[in-house]
Amino acid sequence: MSVKPYGNQIGSKKEQVTQMFNRIAPKYDLLNHLLSFRIDKLWRRRVVKLIKPLRMPDVLDLATGTGDLAIAIGRKVKPNVIYGVDISSGMLALAAKKVLKHQLQHKIVLKEGDSENLPFEKHSFDVVTVAFGVRNFENLQAGLSEMARVLRPGGMVIVLEFSKPLSFPMKQLYRLYFTRILPWWGGLISRDKEAYSYLPASVLQFPDGKDFDDELVKAGLNPVRRWKQTFGIATIYVALKPEQ
Ligand SMILES: C[S@@+](CC[C@H](N)C(=O)[O-])C[C@H]1O[C@@H](n2cnc3c(N)ncnc32)[C@H](O)[C@@H]1O
Repeated sequence: MSVKPYGNQIGSKKEQVTQMFNRIAPKYDLLNHLLSFRIDKLWRRRVVKLIKPLRMPDVLDLATGTGDLAIAIGRKVKPNVIYGVDISSGMLALAAKKVLKHQLQHKIVLKEGDSENLPFEKHSFDVVTVAFGVRNFENLQAGLSEMARVLRPGGMVIVLEFSKPLSFPMKQLYRLYFTRILPWWGGLISRDKEAYSYLPASVLQFPDGKDFDDELVKAGLNPVRRWKQTFGIATIYVALKPEQ
């Protein structure tokens, strides 16, 4: 049973996640960069580097939020198209402003939708990316299976997600920061205390490392790389859809 943002309050995890992101959307970018000391930018750049060698790929960025990864891809890669899909209209409204600011409206198409039930035909994309999104899915396997379905054979999935550092002293420092300091700061600035308690709680219970690779395999994908970021605070997972 995965953690829900507002615990026993009314609504499924999906409904609560949508409500939470609609609520914190105006403060999301500020808090994201503040609480991660901007390391998240470096991690997204590394995702972009993995896509750069591809020629005119069709890209789908799931749980695109305020669009940072889709925009980073649009600026550095020459894609045919990038679809940015998110379940929160509040997050997408901010993404739309940023897309215009970067003059990427001809490359990036934003769409409200659920990663667990995607509005695309099978074999539509060369690459599917998700940054800090999969942990929020109500049904992880449904989301991963949808990614596999919309990918072309040989296509690539790249997931960037928080993970748990394993070695001393990072393990201890991370727990202290993540479970004490971050919820306090996040709650204060966003005025949504639960949202920033949900963040560490959802990370601590989410499968990472080999366990996440096992989930990719269950969805019919072949993990090819597991790349730990900054002492294992986050991990970039790369998997391919089999050719046949
Ligand atoms: C932590 S934010 C990440 C946003 C962005 N990818 C980034 O790197 O900043 C998670 C996003 O996942 C979205 N989300 C959660 N569940 C979703 C689902 N089932 N389908 C689509 N988006 C979803 C939320 O609305 C939110 O915008």
